[in-house]
Amino acid sequence: MQPGVRACVPTLLGQTTLSLIWRGCLSNVQNMPVRSFSCLPRKMSRWNSRDTCSPLPPQENPRVLITGDPSFFLKQYGTENVILSDIKKPPPNVYSSGPFVYADVLDYKHLRELIINNRITWLVHYSALLSAVGEANVALARKINITGLHNVLDLALEHCLRLFVPSTIGAFGPSSPRDPAPDLCVQRPRTIYGVSKVHGELMGEYLHHKYGLDFRCLRYPGVISVNTPPGGGTTDYAVQIFHDALSTGHHVCYLRPDTRLPMMHISDCHRATIEFMQSPECQLSLRTYNIAAMSFTPEEVAQEIRKHLPHLKVTYNPDSVRQTIADSWPIRFDDSNARRDWGWAPAFGLEELVADMLRSVREKRTDEGLPVR
Ligand SMILES: NC(=O)c1ccc[n+]([C@@H]2O[C@H](COP(=O)([O-])OP(=O)(O)OC[C@H]3O[C@@H](n4cnc5c(N)ncnc54)[C@H](O)[C@@H]3O)[C@@H](O)[C@H]2O)c1
Repeated sequence: MQPGVRACVPTLLGQTTLSLIWRGCLSNVQNMPVRSFSCLPRKMSRWNSRDTCSPLPPQENPRVLITGDPSFFLKQYGTENVILSDIKKPPPNVYSSGPFVYADVLDYKHLRELIINNRITWLVHYSALLSAVGEANVALARKINITGLHNVLDLALEHCLRLFVPSTIGAFGPSSPRDPAPDLCVQRPRTIYGVSKVHGELMGEYLHHKYGLDFRCLRYPGVISVNTPPGGGTTDYAVQIFHDALSTGHHVCYLRPDTRLPMMHISDCHRATIEFMQSPECQLSLRTYNIAAMSFTPEEVAQEIRKHLPHLKVTYNPDSVRQTIADSWPIRFDDSNARRDWGWAPAFGLEELVADMLRSVREKRTDEGLPVR
């Protein structure tokens, strides 16, 4: 067995530990004034069981509630098993693809109602305010990213759910090793976004160790997708540049040309999330993993786009807020633990990503009746 990987069959020590957790958990439940935590190891649902080391039974799907809308779980688990939620109207294809409900992550009672009424077993928590928008509205970011997270943590404990929360390169700061950033190192981010993500990682891990919560977290690099409009993050330029290349042919970049950051194609990000969620618990030596695919600078992605569209012009007008944030983030992620524990391997490098994004953005613009270069 690899060092740090838990045994699946409880040993004598394991059984003693479980019974201690059981008793500790019970006494804590008695002291809880409002929200009771019932996620005791022996009461976990069969999907969350830490005593089994097999993937999901083939015919049995989890029932998934997703906050913050990503629809890729629909494809995997079917519209009858997945509920998407957000506080903003989704695009028409999401409405038509399956159940979508209004749900504010600050409304604990409503989330609880959704979980109970729909027999939810997995909670996937995407709602957040991203780095640049968070800096522009710290109070709101604190509310959504921390209070909202506490709501989903409490609900996951209360209802024995497997909980996924994405983290980010923004969970590291200037004192973290940057090339590469390992899973475990100093994390002193300088944004409210990063601080709230580190808080989430630590709270989830704490509740896992104390109560057995099946908390799972991946630190995503900058995610590149044709369907998601830039959401106010520091890596947004790497999506916008494709739209500009195919419309005006001119991109104004808010980062310096040599700003190297870890990035990932959306389909790799989705696959990593599903594979990680399906991994038997006994394979996981960590609750929070880095995942990596590639690292590039604005100049490098522009050069790769020019192989297809030689006319692309990029000018650089660094924005002090986003540049300072980017300069404090890792250049590269060390994802060796994810590769070893649950077999993570990306499919897209820079060349494949650029070819795919140009094709997808071209198709999207054509479908929308917009001019394409
Ligand atoms: N996009 C990336 O490159 C990236 C990288 C690392 C991690 N992540 C993480 O992935 C998640 C999704 O990121 P994204 O890029 O899709 O961001 P996004 O801004 O597009 O999506 C966040 C969603 O949260 C919703 N939201 C805001 N307040 C809410 C509330 N009170 N209740 C319910 N929903 C609310 C928003 O309406 C929005 O749809 C975030 O947790 C983010 O930290 C994203």
